[in-house]
Amino acid sequence: MVNVTAEKIIELLENAGGFISGERMAEQLEMSRSAIWKNIEELRNLGYVIESVKGEGYNLKSRPDLLLPCEVNRFLNTEFMGRRIDYYDIIDSTTKVARNMCLGGNHESLNGTVIVAEEQTGGVGRLGRAWSSPRGGLWISIILTPKINMDHLFTVTMAASIAIVRAIKKETGIGSLIKWPNDIYIGDRKVGGLLVEISAEADRINYCILGIGIDVNVLPEDFPDDIITPITSIFAETGNLINRAGLLARILREFEQRYRLLEEEEYTSIITEWKSLSLTLDKRVQIKTLKKTYTGVAIDIDGHGALIIRKDNGKIERCISGDIIRL
Ligand code: BTN
Repeated sequence: MVNVTAEKIIELLENAGGFISGERMAEQLEMSRSAIWKNIEELRNLGYVIESVKGEGYNLKSRPDLLLPCEVNRFLNTEFMGRRIDYYDIIDSTTKVARNMCLGGNHESLNGTVIVAEEQTGGVGRLGRAWSSPRGGLWISIILTPKINMDHLFTVTMAASIAIVRAIKKETGIGSLIKWPNDIYIGDRKVGGLLVEISAEADRINYCILGIGIDVNVLPEDFPDDIITPITSIFAETGNLINRAGLLARILREFEQRYRLLEEEEYTSIITEWKSLSLTLDKRVQIKTLKKTYTGVAIDIDGHGALIIRKDNGKIERCISGDIIRL
C-alpha cells in the first residue's frame, strides 16, 4: 500500500506543474531529503515516471494506471461515496476485507467506504462461483448502510448497475446493458457483475456490501479458460486502455446520485431507468434454476426485483434466482 507521505509527494509534484526541488518538498513535508528520495524511489517502482535533474529537482512526467486513492481522488466528485478508499495491490477478496471491517462494528461510520484491489486471488461471484480478477480490472466492494426497507434492497444493486452502464458510456462511448439480475453486458458478452451481501435484523438492514467486478483493461489472454458465460473487457471491445481511476470516480458519482433517490423512497424512478437499460425484458429466455428449466418471455420485474416470465404454456412464473439464457 502507498504510504501517506508518498501520496503527499505526488500531490506536491502535481501542483508544481514542473520541477520542484527535493529541499522544498522536504521543507513542506517536514522530513529529510533522503526520506523524500526514498519515497520517490518507491513511487517509481509503482510506475510513476519522475524525472530528476541536478539543480532543478523532480518533475512528474507520467502516472501509472492504478486505483490508488490519490489517483481516484483527482476525479472524485461525491459527497460520501468513495470518500474513504482502502487500497490493496493484491488481496484474496475485497468483499472479505469489507466483511471483516463491518464485523469490527460501527458500520455507520463506514458508509460509502470503498475497498479496492488491483488483483484478487479469491474473488467470489454469484452463486458462490469463482470470479477471475486479474490486473487491469476494477474489483471493488462498497460498504453501505442504506436507510431503506429490506423489501427494497434490490433497488440498491439496480442503482449501481445503472451507474456502471452510464459511467461506461460517459467514459468510453461504449453502450452496455443490464442482464437480470445484476450482470453488465456489451453485446452478448458479459463485461461485469454485481453481488450484494447483507447483514440485517428482521426488516432492518445493518449494512450491505456491494461487490462490483468489471473487466476494464483485462487482456483477452488473461480471461479464464473455464468460463460458462462468454466474457469481454472494455479493452477487448475498444482496443483502448481506459483510465480506471476516472471510470471508478464516475461510477461512484452516478451511483451516489441514484442512491440518494432511494433514500428519498424514489424507487420507481430507479426501476424505470433500470427497465430502460434491461437486456432481458421483452426477450425470450430460458431459465435454469436448481430445480427446473423452462422457457418463456421475460415480461416484467415485480416490486421485489423478481423477474416475471410468461411461460410457453401461458402460465406466469416468478423467478427470484437462476441462470438466464437469452434465446
Ligand atoms: C457476478 O457473479 O456476476 C458478480 C461478481 C462480483 C465480483 C466482485 S469483484 C469485487 C468483489 N470481490 C469479490 O470477491 N467479488 C466482488
